[in-house]
Amino acid sequence: MELIYENSMITDSEISKYAKKVQEAHEKLTNKTGEGSDFLGWVNLEYDKEEIERLKQAAAKIRRDSDYLVVVGIGGSYLGARAVIEALSHTFRQKNVLFAGNNMSPDYINDLVEFIKDRDFSINVISKSGTTTEPAIAFSILKELLTQKYGKDGARERIYITTDKEKGILKREAMDEGYETFIVPDNIGGRYSVLTPVGLLPIAVAGINIDTLMLGASQAMQKYENLLDNEAYTYAILRNALLKKGRNIEIMVNYEPKLHYFTEWWKQLFGESEGKDGKGIFPAGVDNTTDLHSMGQYIQEGQRMMFETVIDIANPYRDYKIPVQSDKDLDFLSAKSLNDVNHMAMEGTIKAHVDGNVPNIRIKIDRLDEFNIGWLIYFFERACGISGYMLGVNPFNQPGVEAYKKEMFKLLGKE
Ligand code: PA5
Repeated sequence: MELIYENSMITDSEISKYAKKVQEAHEKLTNKTGEGSDFLGWVNLEYDKEEIERLKQAAAKIRRDSDYLVVVGIGGSYLGARAVIEALSHTFRQKNVLFAGNNMSPDYINDLVEFIKDRDFSINVISKSGTTTEPAIAFSILKELLTQKYGKDGARERIYITTDKEKGILKREAMDEGYETFIVPDNIGGRYSVLTPVGLLPIAVAGINIDTLMLGASQAMQKYENLLDNEAYTYAILRNALLKKGRNIEIMVNYEPKLHYFTEWWKQLFGESEGKDGKGIFPAGVDNTTDLHSMGQYIQEGQRMMFETVIDIANPYRDYKIPVQSDKDLDFLSAKSLNDVNHMAMEGTIKAHVDGNVPNIRIKIDRLDEFNIGWLIYFFERACGISGYMLGVNPFNQPGVEAYKKEMFKLLGKE
């Protein structure tokens, strides 16, 4: 992976002024002396190898006995798995992992029940707290459907719970009913949990090689464990320096539609980690070139309050040669590689945006595969922890999420 910064808004000498701040953040993260230090299990990729083996066996069983796995979870309990599965799967073939419990739409759940009721399926309910309303509703609906279809004993064989090791309603129910359970480690918060059973079980069910994913993450961990020569830290510095110069919005840009959910995962990671105490960059996303025909106008000429972070994938799995064009106006495309044209669109857009005073950070990877996605996940998690500490917030809590729940529970008459 390579990080390239384009635009003179932040000079090298300004970057060097952040040396002390980044060192303090690094010490907080590595010595566990900062706020939220109980939630740093992800830093060293702590996980139980035996549990991962059991998880692989569960994934193989689900692939044998189910057409679909329905993942029931919200926020950090589903976005990471969805991001990895979308990034590494065929765009059009039906995926064998479906998602529920991430909204309260009656249409969504009706469509799901209608689609799944005559097919073989299993459920993986993922909730660290075990009390989140959206997944609780979806689980109760899907459990009823599963029990009608397979009977109580049959349903038991198809329900997998990923939750706290001892606390919460889900844990109690799993113990009472004898469901197979996986643990969300105490010291890892939802949005940092994709490389634990939270993400790994659904990802393995989708047929993605989780060993290679973890290898990418662990090599990134080794690369980014030191203070110096650390691209994750350069990214954190650039973000903080740009924020200080009034760039309140960061737009994650891709030129590969499979990365749409990766951006969603990244938005949650940075939005929930930094948006507090009246601080933080608002994380947004565009899928190009699609969004060049919608948001492109604003980015080029609207208020100068944003910067962009572009994911540049050097090589596609398969390229396509564009047919020879009969019209002379389109002849410039004749027999060109589609990947080259996509890249020219990216280069042209970066140039136009930088010239239009939108600073650009480019994150370049060789290929969209398990290794590089694992690497990127670790890169962004590490950068987020450091960036949050540099900003002066606790990057590992989310107190603001409770406010809507309080108001909703009042309206619903919850004691
Ligand atoms: O990052 C987080 O901690 C949150 O987004 C949670 O993942 C989300 O609120 C779901 O919580 P839970 O897993 O407890 O159901």
